[in-house]
Parts: sequence; structure tokens; C-alpha cells
Amino acid sequence: MPAAKTFYVTTPIYYVNDAPHIGHAYTTVAGDVLTRWHRMRGESVWYLTGTDEHGQKVEAAAKANGVSPQQWVDTLVAEKWLPVLDTIDVVNDDFIRTTDPRHMQRVQRFMSSLHEQGWFYLGGYEGPYCVGCEEFKLADELIPGEGEHIGKQCCAVHGRPVETLNESNWFFKLSQFRERLIEHYEVNPDAIAPRSAYNEVLSFLRGDLKDLSISRSTFDWGIPLPWDPDHVVYVWFDALLNYATAIGLGDDDEPSASKFSGTWPADVHLVGKDILRFHAVIWPAMLMAAGLPLPKTVFAHGWLLVGGEKMSKSKLTGIAPSDIIDAFGSDAFRYYFLRAIAFGSDGSFSWEDMSARYTNELANGLGNLASRATAMVDRYFGGALPAAATTDAEHVLREHWGRVVTDANEAIDRLEFATALNATKEFVDALNMYLTEQEPWKVAKAGTDEAMARVATVLATVCEGLRGLAVVLHPVMPKATASLWESIGAAAALGDLAAQRIDLAGAWGVLPVGTRTTKGEPLFPRLEEHQQ
Ligand code: MSP
Repeated sequence: MPAAKTFYVTTPIYYVNDAPHIGHAYTTVAGDVLTRWHRMRGESVWYLTGTDEHGQKVEAAAKANGVSPQQWVDTLVAEKWLPVLDTIDVVNDDFIRTTDPRHMQRVQRFMSSLHEQGWFYLGGYEGPYCVGCEEFKLADELIPGEGEHIGKQCCAVHGRPVETLNESNWFFKLSQFRERLIEHYEVNPDAIAPRSAYNEVLSFLRGDLKDLSISRSTFDWGIPLPWDPDHVVYVWFDALLNYATAIGLGDDDEPSASKFSGTWPADVHLVGKDILRFHAVIWPAMLMAAGLPLPKTVFAHGWLLVGGEKMSKSKLTGIAPSDIIDAFGSDAFRYYFLRAIAFGSDGSFSWEDMSARYTNELANGLGNLASRATAMVDRYFGGALPAAATTDAEHVLREHWGRVVTDANEAIDRLEFATALNATKEFVDALNMYLTEQEPWKVAKAGTDEAMARVATVLATVCEGLRGLAVVLHPVMPKATASLWESIGAAAALGDLAAQRIDLAGAWGVLPVGTRTTKGEPLFPRLEEHQQ
């Protein structure tokens, strides 16, 4: 029997005109959570991220800094883009750079093959181009400039004047794919999510789809066209191919060929809503031209906003992930953005909201629950998990937990991270409430066997709930859940946390009686202590 296909997750590859900000980290964390989640279902997963290094925008950044484009990208990738993956605790399987020889060679081979099949023709492009978007624009997409740009036509995304290009370009016969694309999306309504993104692409496709310039001939920081080396491949054509070149596009030798056939098509391409059309129109048309299967889902998430506008380095509103992580830790960073903003919608970042959720949901919520429970197991049972009996109150919690696991798994299938995290948060609240209502510290005062049996039940129930929470929250907060797993003794009793099955985490009574618990460091230190 052939091995099951690998679940393949990608992020966009990021422009290295500058250092990463939290908007980039947002997508990369979402992909990482998805990766870890599917791994904990026992699936094989491949997670790709990387950098988009060609094009005018990167070339201009290098020039402004007085270095060659290659020196610029090498330095920025080594000093900023690779280290940020550690900062945000991401376990990508591969990191592709569009300047990698493996990428450049496969892009050239792909381009030659499409050229041989007659998908390209030589023409001329005269019209507006936004270097910020690296996109050929239509006149009706532009807005009048303001302030220093008054009197000029500007890009609606960047607010900066567009350039007027007049150059010889090779074109891709994109217009020929309009009907096939519409048909594909009608038959596969889940191929673009959320629904608003699907509707946007369909209405765009129902308009007029023009052929696309796929080469540039007035600068040279790119991959030369094999049959016309005065041209370099248009940066988006080059970049989109990364998803396929990274896993061996076009190779017929092993193990590359098996890697490609066992991984392609992508299951989820995560993208920001600003780059949806590239992924949902141009990319599938390229794949159709090459006779390759199309990605299963392109998911367009919203923007992190600052002052109501898309956060960006070019508008000087970019916040580095380490600014937040130094104060709150990587787990809280990962949790916050997926919990506070519905994936697919825009959301504003504020330090106040971040601090409030950290304190309420993490420090006072999960963290406090864990330290109260392990402290009491220590105090009343010498750190050995006691046995639980079941009354109605425990039964209710057990049923509740079963629903959390089902709901969270289903929510992740729809990429609704916030829904999944809301379900776990409600369960943390329910356990804290249970502990408060049962008052085991008061019951223990009686000191009778009956009283201690009740205390045992309450503490064993909370520890069992913590066991489940550690499993389900592991993809989101790998470090804190690993400490929690240790402190409830699950590491010794049940083995590696990452090896637990998240789809089966709804089982109850899994943590064995007698397991050794320890009261570790607080999972989420109070902010005052933390910032000292
Ligand atoms: N290089 C292209 C992508 C090529 S993929 C084949 C690109 N790069 S980018 O660095 O400008 O943007 C990469 C991603 O970061 C996009 O998905 C974009 O939406 C996302 N974000 C950039 N700023 C963002 C926010 N303020 N908020 C959320 N995501 C943001 O486009």
C-alpha cells in the first residue's frame, strides 16, 4: 500500500528588503501550530517557509545600503530571518531561498518547459508598476497621492507613487485559464477560504482576466530566462514556484521524485489577504499549464493593524517579534495572536490587550490552576497522584472535556484557531471554578478518610484536566505545556508530550494513580516579576 500523502503546509516567502515584523511572524506561527497539530494526529507533515529575494524592491534596498543584492540578502537572512524562527519557536522542515541554486535551476527548467509548450509570447508592457507590491497595476486600481505625493498616481496598498514601465516582456497566456479556474472553484468551494476570500476571487475571475507579464528586461536581479537571458523571471512567477521547487519540482531522480509525488499538492497555502490573487489566480494557472494538481486550500488571513492601518516596516509601524517576546515569552506570543484575532479577519495589536489576556488567561488562568493543583497534591499526598471517584461534578467536567477536544479538532480543520483556543480557555475556567467551589483546602481540614478521599478526587480530576490541556495546547504553547507535562508527572508516566494523540486527547482517566507530581516554576510568571 502506498504511504499516505504528507500533509503539506506553506507560508508565503517573505521579501528580504527589511527585517521581520510581527505580521510575518503571525503567519509563520499559524503554520507551525497547524504543523504540530497534524503531527499530533499521527500524520506525516512537511512545513515550508522561506524568503523571496529577487526583484526590484530587494535590489533597491541593497542599493540604498550600499551593498550588492546578494550580500544584502545573505546578511539579512542569516542575521534576521533565520534567527526569528527560533525566537518564535517554529519547527519548519525546510527554508527555501529564491537565490538557492536548487530553486533557480528548477525555475529555469519549469520556464523552459512552459515555453516549449507555447504558453509564453513576447510583447511589450506599458503601464503602472508598484515596486512595493511588485505588481503590474491597472489604472483603476490607483489612488490620487496625498501630502508629498500630491498630483501623482499612487498604489492603494502602499500609498506611494507607482512607476511607469515601458519595456519588452514575455507574457503568460493567463487569460486562457479564466473559465477553467472558475470551474475549478465552483467544483471545489473549499479551495479558497474563508468564504469572503473565495467570493473575492470568483468575482475577480468573472471580470476580465488579462495575460500577465512574466519577465522584466530593465533590471537584472532575478533568474535569467533560459531562452532569452536579457530578461529575468518576473519576481512573482519566480516566488510562487518555491512551493514546488522546494520539494523537487520536475526532478525524475530519487529520492527527489518520490518526495514530490508524496508531498504535492499543498494542503494549505497560508497567505495574507493582500497576496490572495497571486495564489488563487496566477499560481493555479501556472500549475494547470504544467499539468500539475492544484493546492487543496489557499487560506487568506487578515492583517495586523496599528492605528487602523496594515502594520508595515515601510510605514515605520513594524514591531519586531522580540519586542513582545522579551516581555511575554514565545508561548504567550503564539497564543495571543491566534486567540485574540479570528484567523481571516484583521485585528489591532495593543500592549494593553496583550497584557490583559496574558494575566487573565495565562497567568491567572492556566498557570494558576496548575500551580494550585500541584501544590495541593504535594501537600496532601506527598506528590503522588491520588485516585479519583466520580460524582456529578466530575462527570460534568469529563463530558465538557470530550466536547472541547472534538470542537478544537474540528475548528483546526477550518483553521479557526481562535475557536479552538476559546474552547480550551472555557475549560480552564471550568476547572478553576470547580476547584474554587470544591474548596479541597477546607475539606482537608476535617482530616477524615472520607474527607481526604474527596480531596483526592478533586485534585486527581484537575490533574487529569491539566493532562488533556497540555496535549491540546502543545501545538500552540510548546514550552509551557512541556513544563506542565513534567510537573504533573505525565512525562514519566505517559512519555513524550509531542507523541500524544491530539485527536484522542478527549479520553479521561489517562494519568495513572501514583504518578509523581512536582510544583515547578510558574508557567506564566506575573508580568512585574517577569519584566524585572
Ligand atoms: N514575497 C511576497 C510573497 C511571495 S509568496 C510566493 C510577499 N512578501 S511580504 O514579505 O511582503 O509579505 C509576506 C506576507 O506577510 C504576506 O502574506 C502578507 O500578507 C504578510 N504580512 C505583511 N504585513 C502584515 C501585517 N501587518 N499583518 C499580517 N500579515 C502581514 O508578499
